[in-house]
Amino acid sequence: VHVDWDLVTAEKAGYDHFMMKEIHEQPKAYRDTMMGRVAEDGRSVQLNELSMTAEYVKDIRKIHIVACGTAYHAGLVGKTIIETLARIPVETDVASEYRYRSPIITPDTLVIVVSQSGETADTLAALREAKRNGARVLAITNVVGSSIAREADDVLITSAGPEIAVASTKAYTTQLIIFYLFGLYLAQTLGTKEQSEIADVLGAMQKLPEQVQSVLDQKAVLRQIAESISKHDNLFFIGRGVDYAVSQEGSLKLKEISYIHSEAYAAGELKHGTLALIEEGIPVIALVTQEELYEKTLSNIKEVKARGAHVLGIVNAGAETEAAKSVDELFAIPKTLPLLSPAVSVIPMQLISYYASLARGNDVDKPRNLAKSVTVE
Ligand code: G6P
Repeated sequence: VHVDWDLVTAEKAGYDHFMMKEIHEQPKAYRDTMMGRVAEDGRSVQLNELSMTAEYVKDIRKIHIVACGTAYHAGLVGKTIIETLARIPVETDVASEYRYRSPIITPDTLVIVVSQSGETADTLAALREAKRNGARVLAITNVVGSSIAREADDVLITSAGPEIAVASTKAYTTQLIIFYLFGLYLAQTLGTKEQSEIADVLGAMQKLPEQVQSVLDQKAVLRQIAESISKHDNLFFIGRGVDYAVSQEGSLKLKEISYIHSEAYAAGELKHGTLALIEEGIPVIALVTQEELYEKTLSNIKEVKARGAHVLGIVNAGAETEAAKSVDELFAIPKTLPLLSPAVSVIPMQLISYYASLARGNDVDKPRNLAKSVTVE
């Protein structure tokens, strides 16, 4: 079943493209996705729509996250979120690979499928395979009544509203919000985090919408950066931990709409091969938001700088002085908890991709060869 959004309600609202409108809707989408899912005192999560019991949660031995494209990238962050908060082992797979590697799916495996449209053929097939093997399936989707929503045992809806641009933005970030809420729900049920820590994460989540807004307010700076990037044919994204996961999404976004070739690399892995590709003037976007890994990533930045790369560092506000010594350009984002940073750090990536696509004269909302929803395997 296909849900055709009412195009009148989905008009561009004064923006030149749906993508820009959707990027700007993110503060509201975050609030809408959290609404009703946090207890009134702000100290615990309540996911009343879930039918899984506490007994079931206590028996989960492993989690598989399965998705395609941007939703897969949300799943990469989802793995870190769940492992950090709930200490349950998680594997994240692209749906088109999952079924063919004979995954070990047992009744104590929770399979989480992530899909904006709820109609992606490979993701739906993975869901069916999981159920055939006796696993419970939780769907994270943006479309109520979609095939994936109907066939899953549990559904958590991302309240992003209709997403029209082929390049996904607010669906990705609201998928992250759901992963934070679900990770906290698991932690709360399993007792893997103190109540006060859960309250701290929820408190920091309440601030995300205004932090995202403050990045949106600096879009003119990102436009300039994107215009110089748009003159290149190759570039690299580097990061560690969740910064690496967000780099992968940044690279995909840029490829999809600007057609500039890019690769995302785990910063520490560069010297095992990719460093050979760094030559004079090549742009490198380095995401450095994780305090623990800060020094390590800065030393990777020095490696590419020494080979002539032009480095844009995306860092937390407050860390600029030290980072400024190692990079050519800096963009500071508001600081949040390390685990929550993807919900802020992906915003400059989205805007850089948008403006690079625009500078190249591409059709931002309808990139060549791509479809919003892929219903063939
Ligand atoms: C297509 C879209 C991507 C999307 C992917 C998964 O390739 O162009 O933007 O991430 O499908 O879609 P889904 O609806 O399952 O999230």
